[in-house]
Formats: sequence, structure tokens, C-alpha cells
Amino acid sequence: MFEEFVEFKPSKRSLRKLKDKDLYETVEEVFDSTTLLTLYDIMKKGIIKKVYGVISAGKEARVYWGKGRNNEDLAIKIYLTSTAEFRRSIIKYIVGDPRFENIPLGNIRKIIYLWTRKEYRNLKRLYEAGVRVPKPIYFAKNILVMEFIGKEGIRAPLLREVDLSEEEAYKILNTILEYIKVMYNKARLVHADLSEYNIMLHNDEVVIIDVGQAVDISHPNALEFLKHDVETILRYFRTKIGLEDIPSTEEVLEMILKWRNKK
Ligand SMILES: Nc1ncnc2c1ncn2[C@@H]1O[C@H](COP(=O)(O)OP(=O)(O)OP(=O)(O)O)[C@@H](O)[C@H]1O
Ligand SMILES: [Mg+2]
Repeated sequence: MFEEFVEFKPSKRSLRKLKDKDLYETVEEVFDSTTLLTLYDIMKKGIIKKVYGVISAGKEARVYWGKGRNNEDLAIKIYLTSTAEFRRSIIKYIVGDPRFENIPLGNIRKIIYLWTRKEYRNLKRLYEAGVRVPKPIYFAKNILVMEFIGKEGIRAPLLREVDLSEEEAYKILNTILEYIKVMYNKARLVHADLSEYNIMLHNDEVVIIDVGQAVDISHPNALEFLKHDVETILRYFRTKIGLEDIPSTEEVLEMILKWRNKK
């Protein structure tokens, strides 16, 4: 099912021929040759036309701003293939997920490729269910291409970065809870890392990001993850924003699960 990974080390010269100088300077230091070749491949296909600066440099992934075929903005998320920490942090989402059943847990590269595919598929499921997420565009190996949330290379702010009026805050909280409900019942996914860090606010829209770890509702810990997501969101609006009139975790969970049983 999975093609064997072949360590392919192109010579500097052949790489130089392939590369666009700016691109090379933008991404060269962090990535191995397979990642670079995958990126060139996506560019050759015409899906990415340009890669500009880095938007976010996390421990596990880097996100770049780029341009697509029609000059549209893109977000390009590239997972680092050389991090041991990644394995530790994703293991609880992988064990119990049928999509990872036959993968030896020691093969980090394969896991990262699957993880990238999983993030793409999760985005697709959510997008099709009507949850506002970045539109998924393409994936290959450890590279995910999606809609850029922001304008002219400036990403939209995260929920945690925005000062909200009470009225706005109630509205946004409502939208988030509605999205959790639709995620669970229509996309049949639990985000499992939902927080003020993984929600962007863009043109009056609430956009859910970072869905790599989202699990199918059949995952043995799905309900526990769901409860954690709801608690995290309610806690943020209660203690950080200071909203007083918010439901309890139990009430929200009941609302989500009841909606499902009705259908
Ligand atoms: N589609 C997008 N459009 C614009 N910016 C994005 C997009 N996706 C991600 N970002 C930016 O990149 C950051 C990291 O993305 P994401 O949350 O998906 O990765 P992560 O694995 O959590 O990385 P980190 O470890 O840095 O948090 C986000 O906080 C956001 O600022
Ligand atoms: Mg994140």
C-alpha cells in the first residue's frame, strides 16, 4: 500500500538546475532533499507557482505563504521529517485509528506521510460538511497545500490574538460550538486539539485550522477528546474573555450528542 521510501540524494548540481534561487533560499536550510524534490514536483505540476516567506515555524511543521496557478494565495504546510518529538505527541491519536493500523510505529517517515494525508482528508471532510476550514488543495508526502487564510501574505489573527467586545465574543463562541457539533455529526470527526491557538478570525469568519490530529468519532477516545475540546473553548471564553453567561461542558456535550441521535 505504501511505496517504500527511497533515500534519494541528488547532487548539488542537479538540485541547482531544478531549483528557483529564491525558493532555494526560502526553504533550503530546513528540509531534506526528498522534501525539496517533492516541492519542486508540486511546482512542476503548476499547483504552486511561488513560495515566499515562512508564516510559522513550529517544532513539527513550517507553514509558508505562496502563490498558486492563478496568483491566488496559498498556505503550504511542510512537516519536518526529522523530529522525535513529533512521534511522541501524535502517538495517542494514531493508536486506535484504523488508518494507521498496519504502520510500524518506528517508521517515522511513513507516519509523517500518512499524517499529512490524514490532515488533507480531515480538511476535506470538514470542508464538505460545511465547517469553515482552509480549503484543501493538494498533498504529497509531507507537504500540504491549502487556501491561505489572510490577505497579501499577512495571515489572519488567531482567536487568542484578538480583543473582542462582549457581543462579538458571544457570537464567535456560538459559531465555534456550532462547528464542533457539525464536525461531530456531519464530518464525524473530533478536532482533538481545539483551542484559541487553532482558530483564526478572518473577514468576520471563524476558521478552524490544524486538523491533522482530528479523529474519527469511532476512535476509542473520541468522546474524551470532544469533552476536552469543549472544556478548552468554554474555559477560554469564561476566564480569558470574561463571558459570564456561558453553558456548562455537560450542556454543550448534550446538545452535540442529542443532535446526532435525532438524525
Ligand atoms: N491556511 C492557513 N492560512 C494562513 N495561515 C495559516 C494557515 N494554516 C496555518 N497557518 C498559520 O500557521 C500556524 C501553524 O499552523 P498549524 O496550527 O496548522 O500548525 P501546528 O502544527 O500547530 O504548528 P505549531 O507547532 O507552530 O503550532 C498557525 O497558527 C497560523 O498562524
Ligand atoms: Mg497549531
